Amino acid sequence: MAQASVTIVEVGPRDGLQNEKAEIATQDKLALIGKLADAGLARIEATAFVSPRWVPQMADHAAVMRGAGRRPGVAFSALVPNEKGAEAALAAGAQALAVFTAASESFSRRNTNCSIAESIERFRPVMALAERAGVPVRGYVSCALDCPYEGPIAPEAVATVAAELLALGCSEIALSDTLGRGTPERTAAMVEAALRRAPAAMLAGHFHDTSGRAIANVAAAWELGLRVFDGSVGGLGGCPYAPGAAGNLATERLVAHFEASGIATGVDLTQLDEAATWIATRIGRS
Ligand code: HMG
Ligand code: MG
Repeated sequence: MAQASVTIVEVGPRDGLQNEKAEIATQDKLALIGKLADAGLARIEATAFVSPRWVPQMADHAAVMRGAGRRPGVAFSALVPNEKGAEAALAAGAQALAVFTAASESFSRRNTNCSIAESIERFRPVMALAERAGVPVRGYVSCALDCPYEGPIAPEAVATVAAELLALGCSEIALSDTLGRGTPERTAAMVEAALRRAPAAMLAGHFHDTSGRAIANVAAAWELGLRVFDGSVGGLGGCPYAPGAAGNLATERLVAHFEASGIATGVDLTQLDEAATWIATRIGRS
């Protein structure tokens, strides 16, 4: 029987580094991306083409995207909030795009200065550009369990936004526990609601580890059929517009969890651990 496998999406260079206060040299970002690709990660979110006034750490997005270049077997993606970002990301060579909205109106306003419905409208020209370029677009639904401003979020609200992103043409929806306070039970209820609107093959799980339950939440989503999960090397990150959100689930923990369960990740844990140690040293965390 073929071994079960999982796809790990590495979001550290974007979702991890976007939250770092210290200036990180473009060369260091590129070195990190290289180490992650060397470790076997086949999908890497390299940067975000967002406003440098909103997220200064991503201001070197074009240099990072161009510097990442092309590598056989690896797709480098860029987070974009609108047409301007998508145009710049594609011009710099992005092989995939990711748009982002939320299941909470308050978070959408704080994060992108618009309502959920307005964010979806902003994505229409992004989808058109991506289609012309032949690149896939992932859609993030932030605050899929809790919102820092509104508290717990109803599973149906998440499912509705996920369905809208799919209708727009997104090839994958990342159900994102931005605050990282979810439980396996609430994760399962949210994923079940999303599954009533989308096949498991089009859903991914993106968990933060604030309450130390991210792996348990991953396991709950895996049980329901999800096979794509996000990690951030070294557990870096948090969202600048989500006060109280600790780091993303560390990719090395995610890989160790699946490998220990006999599920192939294609990632070399030793090399990944080395990358985690290296970036922690570079940004003064160790
Ligand atoms: P705004 O101020 O409402 O936009 O920001 P605007 O259209 O009025 O434009 C204002 C200025 O921004 C203009 O420049 C635009 O050109 C510029 P000016 O003429 O004043 O010099 N601008 C841009 N610059 C660069 N790239 C762009 C871009 N668009 C406009 N793409 C906007 C609206 C969406 C741009 C802003 O709110 C923004 O950039 N927000 C990004 C916030 C962000 O990146 N948050 C973190 C990522 S989301 C996240 O972490 C959650 C996630 O990881 C999942 C999870 O963990 O839950 C995805
Ligand atoms: Mg995140």
